[in-house]
Amino acid sequence: MNIPGFICETARGAGEIVRQHYGHVKTRRLKSDRGDFVTEVDLESESYIIKRIREEFPEDNIISEEAGRLRDIEEGYTWIIDPLDGTRNYAIGIPFFSVSIALTRDGRAEHGAVYDPIHDELFFASRGWGATMNGERIRVSTEPDLEDAVITVAWVRKKVERTQFMGYVEHLSHRTSYFRRLGSAALATAYVAAGRFDAFIQGGLNPWDVAAGIVLVEEAGGLATDLTGRPIDLTRPETDILAANPALHNRLLSEVIRRL
Ligand code: IPD
Ligand code: CA
Ligand code: CA
Repeated sequence: MNIPGFICETARGAGEIVRQHYGHVKTRRLKSDRGDFVTEVDLESESYIIKRIREEFPEDNIISEEAGRLRDIEEGYTWIIDPLDGTRNYAIGIPFFSVSIALTRDGRAEHGAVYDPIHDELFFASRGWGATMNGERIRVSTEPDLEDAVITVAWVRKKVERTQFMGYVEHLSHRTSYFRRLGSAALATAYVAAGRFDAFIQGGLNPWDVAAGIVLVEEAGGLATDLTGRPIDLTRPETDILAANPALHNRLLSEVIRRL
């Protein structure tokens, strides 16, 4: 099977597992931080995805949120998986969460899928081939003004300097009223790619939260970098992200992020 077909089918298959169990979560286990959950559905979705990759691409490396790094190879092909992004939403019945699967080559995301099983929206991109949602071409927004921008700013308590992100919100609150927060970082990047959100800023993320989203945003004509404006390094355990259309990306860096 070709890689795009494989990723899309696998994301939909995992999404179907997630959707079927929605509203029937049996066990929530706390991970490292207060409120950082894992459920049996995260694990079932992850087992399904890993099994499929092992069958089709047995040589490849896999990094997955719950299973960790399954083989230590920095070069070549690595699958980066978040089997359920937005577990807290999922566990409390807020219908915004996703499955995220990316394939990287030598550390760079080449293909990415983010699937929202409740709204049946599959966001997919391959480098050089553009970005789609359910097969239709998507583009980032053309909104150039912070005053009219729909922006999502998020951070993970304990992982970032909270005042830094509070500073962004405070600054932006003088310029826009259109704040949103989804609770799934992978879906938020997909929404930037689709032109729904004009910009997304978040700190304290892991590679599996953003790997697929990076290729989606870039192939939709946008920019997805860290908060210094450099490419996101997916080999590092933690990252932040600024994803936006090019005009707003530039303005957010120069007028907000670098000023605080
Ligand atoms: C979380 C979600 C959330 C973000 C957290 C992530 P999880 O992922 O993406 O929106 O704020 O940083 O850890 O734990 O639900 O896969
Ligand atoms: Ca996640
Ligand atoms: Ca997850």
